Amino acid sequence: MRVAVLLLLGLALLEAEGRCFFNRTQEYCVCYRLSQDNAGSIIQCLAASVVEFQGGELERYVDFPIRDLDPSTIDMLGTLEIRKIIFGDLLVPEVLLARVLRFFSYTRVQEMAFESCSFLGRSSWGEMAGQNLPILSLHFHNVTSAPLTGREQDFSELGSWLGTLQELSVTSSHVTSLPCGIGRVFRALRSLDMAQNSLGDGSLMPAFCKGAFPQLQVLSLQENNLTSYHGVCRSVQLLHELQHLDLSQNKLVASPSSSCQWPASLRIFNLSNTGLDELLTPLPPGLEVLDLSSNRLRAVDISLRSLKTLLLSRNLLLAAPPIRNYPVLRSLHLDDNLIAEWPWDEVKLLGNLQEVSAAGNPYNCTCAGAGALQALAATGCLRQGWPQHYACHSPPHYQGTLVRDVPASVLQCNRAVVLAPVCTALGLLCVAGAGWLAMARRRRVASPSAAQPQGLHGQELGEKACRSPMCS
Ligand SMILES: *[C@@H]1O[C@H](CO)[C@@H](O)[C@H](O)[C@H]1NC(C)=O
Ligand SMILES: *[C@@H]1O[C@H](CO)[C@@H](O)[C@H](O)[C@H]1NC(C)=O
Ligand SMILES: *[C@@H]1O[C@H](CO)[C@@H](O)[C@H](O)[C@H]1NC(C)=O
Ligand SMILES: *[C@@H]1O[C@H](CO)[C@@H](O)[C@H](O)[C@H]1NC(C)=O
Ligand SMILES: *[C@@H]1O[C@H](CO)[C@@H](O)[C@H](O)[C@H]1NC(C)=O
Repeated sequence: MRVAVLLLLGLALLEAEGRCFFNRTQEYCVCYRLSQDNAGSIIQCLAASVVEFQGGELERYVDFPIRDLDPSTIDMLGTLEIRKIIFGDLLVPEVLLARVLRFFSYTRVQEMAFESCSFLGRSSWGEMAGQNLPILSLHFHNVTSAPLTGREQDFSELGSWLGTLQELSVTSSHVTSLPCGIGRVFRALRSLDMAQNSLGDGSLMPAFCKGAFPQLQVLSLQENNLTSYHGVCRSVQLLHELQHLDLSQNKLVASPSSSCQWPASLRIFNLSNTGLDELLTPLPPGLEVLDLSSNRLRAVDISLRSLKTLLLSRNLLLAAPPIRNYPVLRSLHLDDNLIAEWPWDEVKLLGNLQEVSAAGNPYNCTCAGAGALQALAATGCLRQGWPQHYACHSPPHYQGTLVRDVPASVLQCNRAVVLAPVCTALGLLCVAGAGWLAMARRRRVASPSAAQPQGLHGQELGEKACRSPMCS
């Protein structure tokens, strides 16, 4: 009870009519509008690993005497299981926060989140100077506070704690700038999420000034007010550890005749929904994942030797990008583009990928066109959406028919041109079928009619090649 009361006073969450609910399976405890009268119900939260406080107004507890703790209480705080605390829908006087944070230095809480909170006033953080907190991860979502500009002093007083913080997110909070000095305090930060704010081109250069966020690996600037691709590139140039950059949902344009080198460490780059009608250059050369979905790209003609995942859904592409440009590609997404046909030699290469998705394209279901797609499906690399979201758009008599259901007997459709490539393609697609195909080809030389299984669908052919007992 003593600890419960202390926690309550410490967190000072008091308001009329409220109580806590503990979900044992999830180890999650939620308290609504706690007050002094129902404070006892917080006891059940002591076994939770996540505690959420919803609603209330702390303003009138600003002068509440929070005294130093005695050793036995400190011991008890150290045994609590609570790992994460969430404050939601609260008015938080900053002065109170500064004092309450000291309680956490005795706990094992690693993560703290403030959602839809308003921080009132400004506090002196002097008491926290030199204090360490176990919290490694700090999240703010939809919060308001006094502006950050001119508060470098406050942050430096929190420096010994903030210097060990690993994850910070400040999302949907109308942030327009991040002063240079603030970034220098976060010496160990690995991940910074600033999504859904109002950062503009001019605010990035100071935010990522020399010495700011020296360990940063993951940066999200999703849905801000950025327009200059090269401006962003120049701003993050000093982040030598950066691996993952999310610029999605900004409206980016290239500045002509501008050049810049991205950090060589970049592996994951998100340019989805950035209004691109052509590819911007340069791209980081060592990329492994490139998300270009939801743009207006008509063609993609770049070569990235390390790329493993290329996401191009929801563009205006008329053809798949040349697969040869991506020797280690594993996953390719092309849903909802304007691709009507798959050339056979592309299908051959695509069959080597682990995952291809290309639903929602206006397929031209000529005999050969449908056959190529069916052969690709037979390799098993078309996963989501096949067959129900692959429909024919032309010719007219097949409009609306599923590509799978088109009787595409590839061998008949295009015998002279297609037969040899099909055999090669299937050989590539299905390693186990190689022996069978070789035999079939040998037999064809001897007696051409015997080697041509007339009327087989592409899919059946692929499956047959794979399942043939002669393969093993
Ligand atoms: C606890 O959470 C689980 C998973 O969300 C839910 O199925 C269960 O009904 C909850 N239990 C209580 C007592 O609310
Ligand atoms: C954001 O927080 C305010 C309170 O500060 C709240 O009224 C509003 O509903 C929240 N908005 C969202 C989208 O959660
Ligand atoms: C976005 O930037 C433009 C100019 O760069 C500015 O006029 C506009 O006010 C900014 N919008 C927001 C929401 O900050
Ligand atoms: C890119 O950002 C969008 C949101 O803007 C998200 O839905 C998508 O999953 C992200 N892509 C990657 C590869 O993380
Ligand atoms: C479909 O492909 C056939 C054969 O290649 C071609 O003649 C026809 O014009 C194509 N139709 C459309 C709508 O692209």
